[in-house]
Amino acid sequence: MSQATNQSWGGRFSEPTDAFVARFTASVTFDQRLARQDIQGSIAHAAMLARVGVLTDDERDAIINGLNEIQGEIERGEFNWSVPLEDVHMNIEARLTDKIGITGKKLHTGRSRNDQVATDIRLFMRDEIDVIEVELKRLREGMIELADREADTIMPGFTHLQTAQPVTFGHHMLAWQEMLARDHERLLDCRKRVNVMPLGAAALAGTTYPIDRHVTAELLGFDRPAENSLDAVSDRDFAIEFTSFASILLMHLSRMSEELVLWTSAQFNFIDLPDRFCTGSSIMPQKKNPDVPELVRGKTGRVYGHLMALLTLMKSQPLAYNKDNQEDKEPLFDAVDTVRDCLKAFADMVPAIEPKKASMYEAARRGFSTATDLADYLVRKGVAFRDAHEIVGQSVAYGLKTEKDLSEMSLDELKQFSDIIEQDVFEVLTLEGSVAARNHIGGTAPNQVRAAAQRAREALSALKAGA
Ligand code: ARG
Repeated sequence: MSQATNQSWGGRFSEPTDAFVARFTASVTFDQRLARQDIQGSIAHAAMLARVGVLTDDERDAIINGLNEIQGEIERGEFNWSVPLEDVHMNIEARLTDKIGITGKKLHTGRSRNDQVATDIRLFMRDEIDVIEVELKRLREGMIELADREADTIMPGFTHLQTAQPVTFGHHMLAWQEMLARDHERLLDCRKRVNVMPLGAAALAGTTYPIDRHVTAELLGFDRPAENSLDAVSDRDFAIEFTSFASILLMHLSRMSEELVLWTSAQFNFIDLPDRFCTGSSIMPQKKNPDVPELVRGKTGRVYGHLMALLTLMKSQPLAYNKDNQEDKEPLFDAVDTVRDCLKAFADMVPAIEPKKASMYEAARRGFSTATDLADYLVRKGVAFRDAHEIVGQSVAYGLKTEKDLSEMSLDELKQFSDIIEQDVFEVLTLEGSVAARNHIGGTAPNQVRAAAQRAREALSALKAGA
């Protein structure tokens, strides 16, 4: 082998790689993030090779000790990453050979970087999914407790962003929580397909050594070895699934963010966010900006971008491994970091939301939000719904002219529109009466909100972390 060519694969080459091409094709600047999983995978591979007699026990021990020392060097920041060695895999293998000599060169028996990298990313994704799940659980728990605390707090509910009917703030929080419950299911479902082991597929066709893939899978905590070697090295569905989960989650967080931004404005004035989640303006001394929700809303775009990048990366790729696949890592790493940080920000912030009850109550009162309740009242007294709609419409027009909410009108004023209306109308025209009347599963009545919060708590604790 010529010394001037790459030491890992240079045997058949007659000239060294162009310096720019070496840099262009190298991935070590970013895939060194997979070092821990790369070492974990190599240790299991060496243990399996010894189990089936391809390595001696001494060779296995030398390899495992060497890899553990390298892990220490990396953690202490002492490892010298080399771009000419291309990627994390060859950097670690070269260092192993430096340390333990020829035995280091035996580690790569019966495997290829193609099954190695696919295994590393899956191990990495499994670790990250488990961290993300902890934050997602923490956020859901905080939201459920806030909902329970605010089960009686009345706010206007909106359609078209116009005041529609009164709801409780707790009910609104549980609506958010439902979005996250679906995201949680998607995450755990994605984890099932992440946790399948490519190792043993080698370059694409399998290997001639008497490997035992069940042993390696068990050592690494995978549910099973991948069925087909061609698919195993080329499949990146799990990366696309994760970024789909991430995109839908960020879409949800952006909706929540948007509402938080609106609610903290002077115009809505529904909630306060503690100062630690906000920043000021360098020019306008009065400003307190809801930066955290704004930034989460903004980060949605980059996550959608990563989903598109990965879908497009895989589009039309022929079997099996192609160098294109090296491009899967940066979008995936950024998606993981963004999701984890956004969830952490929300999990810290949501329990600290301070509802401004009087202001929300006043907003609900101002918007004729019990108009539907008046119509329902008339229907209960025998008026057809369309006629009731008309009668209430006239009452609202009168209220707009006189600047009175329906509940502020006298019985005589209301009777101008229908003489069926009696004193008992005021029970349904109050905001409390209106929300209490929506008393069925999924409704906004305070006792329903408390029951729903309890069910949500139970559903959440039934999910085993990392299961
Ligand atoms: N750095 C490569 C990647 O990320 C590792 C696999 C390279 N395999 C190969 N045959 N060039 O995909």
